[in-house]
Amino acid sequence: MTQHVEKTLKDKVAVITGGSRGIGRAVAEALIARGASVVIGDILEAEGKATAEEFNTLAGSKIAVFIRTDVTSYKDNIALFQCAEKEFGGVDIAFLNAGIAGQESDIALGPPDDKIDERAMDVNGISVIKGTKIAILHMAKRGGGVIVNTASMLGVDTMPSTNAYSASKHAVVGWTRSFTLLPQVCNVRVNAVCPHYVDTDMIAVHESMIARGGPMVELIPKIHKATISNVVKGVLTLIEDQQRNAQTLLVLPDDVLQIAEPAIPDIVKIGAKPDFEEAYKKYERDYVTFSKKRLEYSLQEYEKIHGKFS
Ligand SMILES: NC(=O)c1ccc[n+]([C@@H]2O[C@H](COP(=O)([O-])OP(=O)(O)OC[C@H]3O[C@@H](n4cnc5c(N)ncnc54)[C@H](O)[C@@H]3O)[C@@H](O)[C@H]2O)c1
Repeated sequence: MTQHVEKTLKDKVAVITGGSRGIGRAVAEALIARGASVVIGDILEAEGKATAEEFNTLAGSKIAVFIRTDVTSYKDNIALFQCAEKEFGGVDIAFLNAGIAGQESDIALGPPDDKIDERAMDVNGISVIKGTKIAILHMAKRGGGVIVNTASMLGVDTMPSTNAYSASKHAVVGWTRSFTLLPQVCNVRVNAVCPHYVDTDMIAVHESMIARGGPMVELIPKIHKATISNVVKGVLTLIEDQQRNAQTLLVLPDDVLQIAEPAIPDIVKIGAKPDFEEAYKKYERDYVTFSKKRLEYSLQEYEKIHGKFS
């Protein structure tokens, strides 16, 4: 018997990167079950098209669209969000989830190589920055929204052989934590999900790892993993709980969801002069005023180049 799910996201529109398979696909399914429409952007074209078709067939109406998207390019990110405007009238939710973890994860002691060494940071880190910026523009124009970035437990912890992957996911965590004031600027929230290891194609022991005989190959089967359904639960919590912003939610094995707190909270305030608190409050007020103007300008420029929002 299929479980009844409340349509808590009825008429909402979600953009999902890396949604052709794995965690992205599972989140797309959960959002659709709650009444949302989804636009999936991924480089895996055949899987992405099949996924969208399957969702539409099951729903009996057009609630999913696939568009080939390489998240490393602004051009593709913009086309992805414009597609959501065109197909479903705007964007309320963005799940910026595309990522890689192949040989580019462990580069520290390999030969210097511009292409390989920049790859993890580019796909896992810079792409989230690009996706967030485009999402904010679309959501601000619509009056609000929520972005969830996929980091990793390796965004708050690390292992010797995940050096570049960890660096890229720490970047996602730092970027996400910086958005404490965004709701005051434009009513958009930004959070990150940090899954423990999950059984997806990503870690289904990469051929490249086996070929290189990397040390992770034997370790991965022994790691206690989180379930994909619990990752979905974490993402839904970050989307639906209006109080959550600039948060990083760890999804651990045994169904544990836990906030990943910074090691030293509010480090900028440590050892400050007595009038620092007042100065900090003023800085926050000034930031909101400054950012509203900056966003207004960016929206005008964006509309000049890409046309009016729907
Ligand atoms: N599986 C895990 O153990 C685990 C743990 C923590 C975090 N994560 C993160 O979860 C996210 C989803 O991974 P997954 O486990 O579902 O693996 P996956 O490989 O099944 O999914 C990743 C998706 O991202 C897509 N992608 C890769 N590069 C892209 C690009 N340049 N442009 C657009 N799409 C691109 C892939 O085609 C794929 O569909 C990733 O960001 C990953 O780093 C995974």
